[in-house]
Amino acid sequence: MTVTSHDPRTAAPVSVADETGTAELAAVLRAAEEAASVLATTGPAERRRWLHAAAIALEEHRDELAALADAETALDLPRLTGEVGRAADQLRFYGDVAAEGSYLDVTVDEATETTPRLVRVNRPLGPVAVFGASNFPFAFSVLGNDTGAAIAAGCPVVAKAHEAHVGLSVRQVEIARQAMTSAGAPDGVLQLVVGRDAGAALVRAPQVTAVAFTGSQAGGMALWRLANEREVVIPVYAEMGTVNPVVVTRAGAADAAAVAEVASGFVGSFTLGHGQFCTKPGLLLAPAGAGAADAVAAALRDADPAPVMLSRAIATSVGTGITAMLDAGAELVERVPAPDAANGAPAAVLRAPVSSLKPGSRLLEECFGPVVLVCEYAADDELADTLRTLQGSLAAGLVTGGADDPQARELVRVLSGKAGRVVVDGWPTGVAFTWAQQHGGPWPATTVPAATSVGAHGLARFLRPVAFQSVTDHWLPTEAREDNPWSLPRRVNGRLPEAPQGQR
Ligand SMILES: NC(=O)c1ccc[n+]([C@@H]2O[C@H](COP(=O)([O-])OP(=O)(O)OC[C@H]3O[C@@H](n4cnc5c(N)ncnc54)[C@H](O)[C@@H]3O)[C@@H](O)[C@H]2O)c1
Repeated sequence: MTVTSHDPRTAAPVSVADETGTAELAAVLRAAEEAASVLATTGPAERRRWLHAAAIALEEHRDELAALADAETALDLPRLTGEVGRAADQLRFYGDVAAEGSYLDVTVDEATETTPRLVRVNRPLGPVAVFGASNFPFAFSVLGNDTGAAIAAGCPVVAKAHEAHVGLSVRQVEIARQAMTSAGAPDGVLQLVVGRDAGAALVRAPQVTAVAFTGSQAGGMALWRLANEREVVIPVYAEMGTVNPVVVTRAGAADAAAVAEVASGFVGSFTLGHGQFCTKPGLLLAPAGAGAADAVAAALRDADPAPVMLSRAIATSVGTGITAMLDAGAELVERVPAPDAANGAPAAVLRAPVSSLKPGSRLLEECFGPVVLVCEYAADDELADTLRTLQGSLAAGLVTGGADDPQARELVRVLSGKAGRVVVDGWPTGVAFTWAQQHGGPWPATTVPAATSVGAHGLARFLRPVAFQSVTDHWLPTEAREDNPWSLPRRVNGRLPEAPQGQR
């Protein structure tokens, strides 16, 4: 059995890869298990070196990889060339986060006359299965945030190739694995499996200790169920697609010029990557009488998008999504027809009364692609009630009239209860990989709302704290030793950690 990727513009086959069979998967899992014990004893600075080596190798193959990605995704060379650089920088970032050391959360209680000595440190879980999404073939794929964070945390990765960019998945893993093993990493540090069955078998495999998934609600929930049916249940960190609402306050829509500016920003954000962003703003809530839906329709006509989607299935789901939203009570304000391409899809603006945003309505679910819903609210109470009915989301936006906006403070509070990230006077597309980032959100945006799949705190998903009580110092893992050979920040007797300078 093989998996074939196709050019979204022409439907011509691009890459073919053999599906991973049972015997091959067993060998992959053995290598991952062996690598796990090696990684668990390596210092974070060592793993940083491997990740930096992988980043350099990615950059050295930038043009080759971007061209292959363009053939498999049609996301265009400039965007894809930039995304290779982003993926390389992400790998460096996670390596740097590991080397800084606070992710280990070393906490020491010195012994007293009545209490024993305790050292609490985070330990890596073991092999992690990574499922990337189709829409970021570098940044959220086999070498994306999940892989970078897992290896940084000391966990080997077995990635599942995405069928829509299977050739690119194979090539990226080849390049990064070669670079990391040349830098001293064990063979099993990063491996790939191909095929849905192999992916499902990975989630069931006893050697796998956690799953990181980026993709659709249906895919994430299927793997979450599978993991919860195991004899030994493991965490599934599924980051899924959501609606990502944006609220415009009355002051933010003060006059026609302000509304036109909001409309143009909104269109720019929801047509980025042909609307194939998990952070695409899918719902605009604007004050009654502002004419927001018509302004968005005009801005969409001006933008004149020609969406070519990542797969035939996604292109089809745009059309069926629009129909389902119309059936759920929306009306069409603007529809830009699909371009003449194999995976061409329409773009659309819909309008609905806020009263139709009821729990369970199709209007409250993601329509992956350049399709949005605009609703008008009359009073603050109505807006607050509507926001309460929304599903959890990865991000939420607020467009204000400035620092004195009387609605803003309360709306920031309400939105923070619904989303992992609240964006004020900006758009949610674009997720920086930094120390303070939170890319997650309440169920069903993610299966673990306390976790983030982007940013420094992403390492925590692949760690488990252990307290060592009265353990002789040279029996402890290096990170817990009293002489602190890796110069890790430590909290001692409740005092906040101090970051020692020096070699790590
Ligand atoms: N939360 C985020 O960070 C984020 C980022 C990018 C995309 N997304 C979301 O991802 C979606 C689009 O991505 P996609 O189409 O690639 O997602 P998808 O769910 O179709 O596929 C993701 C991966 O999971 C695998 N998979 C899915 N179900 C499986 C099953 N039952 N058994 C084995 N393997 C399975 C697929 O083969 C693929 O490799 C959109 O909804 C988008 O909003 C989310």
